[in-house]
Amino acid sequence: METKNYLVAGGTSGIGKEIVKQLLASKHRVFVIARNIPEAALQLEGATYFKADCTDSAVVFPEISEPLHGMVYCPGSINLKPFKNLRDDDFYMDWNVNFLGAVKMLRNYLPALQLSGNASVLFFSTVAVQTGMPFHASVAAAKGAIEGFARAMAAELAPTIRVNVIAPSLTDTPLASRLINHETKLQGAKDRHPLKRIGSPDEIASMATLLLDDRGSWMTGQIIKVDGGISALK
Ligand SMILES: NC(=O)c1ccc[n+]([C@@H]2O[C@H](COP(=O)([O-])OP(=O)(O)OC[C@H]3O[C@@H](n4cnc5c(N)ncnc54)[C@H](OP(=O)(O)O)[C@@H]3O)[C@@H](O)[C@H]2O)c1
Repeated sequence: METKNYLVAGGTSGIGKEIVKQLLASKHRVFVIARNIPEAALQLEGATYFKADCTDSAVVFPEISEPLHGMVYCPGSINLKPFKNLRDDDFYMDWNVNFLGAVKMLRNYLPALQLSGNASVLFFSTVAVQTGMPFHASVAAAKGAIEGFARAMAAELAPTIRVNVIAPSLTDTPLASRLINHETKLQGAKDRHPLKRIGSPDEIASMATLLLDDRGSWMTGQIIKVDGGISALK
């Protein structure tokens, strides 16, 4: 397989870290962005790490001189509150991390993606956009924006750049830890899914790398649900 260059924002934890591992295993070059860079001993061999906060209004993204064959934006939130407790700040925070950060990153790296002549962009939504779930108003609104943005950009950037979205349900990552940090909560979460378990980061990453490499070469403008069946089955 041809060695390609990929950039993963949020590649130090959870789903993003698994994506980096899988890309490295396929011998690709991987650049990683996060607010905190792991100490040298914990860095994945072959990955290049950069420190940046994608939500910072004055963010300076790392310069990457090579063409980029793919870009993934993983930063996100699970900010669950009843509507009466959601302040404007909640909506702004969720909007910034789930949506605006992704917009800024794509704007910055579009020339490098275009240089490759055939690139794939991947964003993350949540199952709670297409399936209404209580207490998800703020995060669902921000993730809904990324779905609309991705479809519009897929149309605008075809045929050179493909743009897709993965909409996971509950996945075992540090971001979701508060929802599964007790056996009762974890069992409840498993029981809600037709496949009777929650997702693992490598299951989501497997779909991500398919969309990023040539196996996904005829897919663009798609919102792919990877969710243990929760959005489709009773
Ligand atoms: N886990 C789930 O159950 C679930 C369900 C539905 C959707 N999702 C979506 O899937 C995506 C990945 O989630 P995850 O569970 O893997 O999250 P995670 O474990 O919290 O990892 C998030 C990654 O993003 C980085 N990050 C966060 N804010 C950032 C910022 N402002 N600038 C740069 N990097 C930032 C984090 O590193 P630093 O903190 O060092 O910056 C970390 O590497 C998210 O968009 C999430 O909304 C997850």
